[in-house]
Amino acid sequence: MSTTLITGGTVVSATGRRQADVLVDGERIVALLEPGSTLLGSDLRTTVDTVIDATGRYVIPGGVDAHTHMEMPFGGTSASDTFETGTTAAAWGGTTTIIDFAIQRFGERVQDGLATWHEKAAGNCAIDYGFHQIIGGVDEDALQAMDELIGEGITSFKLFMAYPGVFYSTDDQILRAMQTAAGNGATIMMHAENGPAIDALVAQHLARGETTPYYHGVSRPWQLEEEATHRAIMLADLTGAPLYVVHVSAKQAIAQIAAARNAGKNVFAETCPQYLYLSLEEQLGAPGFEGAKWVCSTPLRARAEGHQDEMWLALRTNDAQVVSTDHCPFCMKDQKELGLGNFSKIPNGIGSVEHRMDLLYQGVVDGRISLERWVELCSTTPARMFGLYGRKGVIEPGADADVVIYDPNGHTSIGYGKTHHMNMDHSAWEGFEIDGHVDTVISRGTLVIDDGAFRGRIGHGQFLKRGLSQYLL
Ligand code: URP
Ligand code: ZN
Ligand code: ZN
Repeated sequence: MSTTLITGGTVVSATGRRQADVLVDGERIVALLEPGSTLLGSDLRTTVDTVIDATGRYVIPGGVDAHTHMEMPFGGTSASDTFETGTTAAAWGGTTTIIDFAIQRFGERVQDGLATWHEKAAGNCAIDYGFHQIIGGVDEDALQAMDELIGEGITSFKLFMAYPGVFYSTDDQILRAMQTAAGNGATIMMHAENGPAIDALVAQHLARGETTPYYHGVSRPWQLEEEATHRAIMLADLTGAPLYVVHVSAKQAIAQIAAARNAGKNVFAETCPQYLYLSLEEQLGAPGFEGAKWVCSTPLRARAEGHQDEMWLALRTNDAQVVSTDHCPFCMKDQKELGLGNFSKIPNGIGSVEHRMDLLYQGVVDGRISLERWVELCSTTPARMFGLYGRKGVIEPGADADVVIYDPNGHTSIGYGKTHHMNMDHSAWEGFEIDGHVDTVISRGTLVIDDGAFRGRIGHGQFLKRGLSQYLL
């Protein structure tokens, strides 16, 4: 087993920062030491196999992206990143763990859906990975499977109030799944949008000839996100299930979540970089078919209504606890183009897995969040929320040696053909200039990214059996 000493850096955690050297032995962190510590009189730097000088840089726990969709069949096509390309891109951006979504549809066995996801990922990942389970067809078998999956390390289940005919669950199905979760300790993840009402609006827009990507956003108004969020909170309250609302974009939905949290309920919110930076007017409203690049659900919201600023505020005040990407990439060619002339046929999703740490770090640069909060939102809380804390999300003795060395004085120009490793023919983040740079990424003690090169190995990433949430009130 090889040893590594990361010297001279500022180790940042969710609770503070300190000058410390980090000693790694094999796959684990074994000690945080006063800079320049000695062992039996010898300078540690002379006794370890590898020394990494992190002087002037931050040493942070590897990012945990708790919401990705590699190879997801959706919208008549499949998300364009495989587990190989997607986890490699994630590593380039300082993410060392993803939690992807295995899928069960109506009439299918949940266990078969999970087995399919294991087949897709096993041996193909550059970094560690876990799974949530989508329950797209709640029935007796599915409810029973939810109990079984807990023992297999799948401790969170996503339900959809949107996408009728695809993943949609009715309120009675949601109620029953939540009752099951309340019984076995699982977390219910909710896509909170009123799908049937959205479908009616979509049909009306199309009938009026309003077919461009802009109408994707207009047909999914914030009222239908707020309403669904409120309904999900009430059903969770009734049943006692912990509720984690995914990809929250509307300030009114966050207000519902904040009210529930203030009332002491186990309700949590995730938002994504797209809801912090991008908008209905600028991106979805781009000329021609360009806006298709940013078709995702929940949709980008109007900047004029102030949703983006409210999302930043929610991250600061802990009304929202996690930033994930909802990485679901599609190329323009042959994929997004399926919706030329009909926005409802554009596959929903944006690719961001590579840029989450950098994009959120701009919140530190701009004074919206602290350095510690950045680490908390991107690494520590997602690990706690989804039963990985102790191994992931922290630089402490005993934790996996998932470490990122981040240069606050570095610079990253995001753009297709520049810093782009996702399997897409465009970047949804084209032209974003980042103050900061992911210099070095270590996964379980193994160098993955260093000196501008991928030094990892496809197949290094292991499946993570997760425990129950460690973040409940
Ligand atoms: O647009 C999105 N979000 N695509 C992925 C599927 C989902 O709802 O998370
Ligand atoms: Zn969703
Ligand atoms: Zn998603």
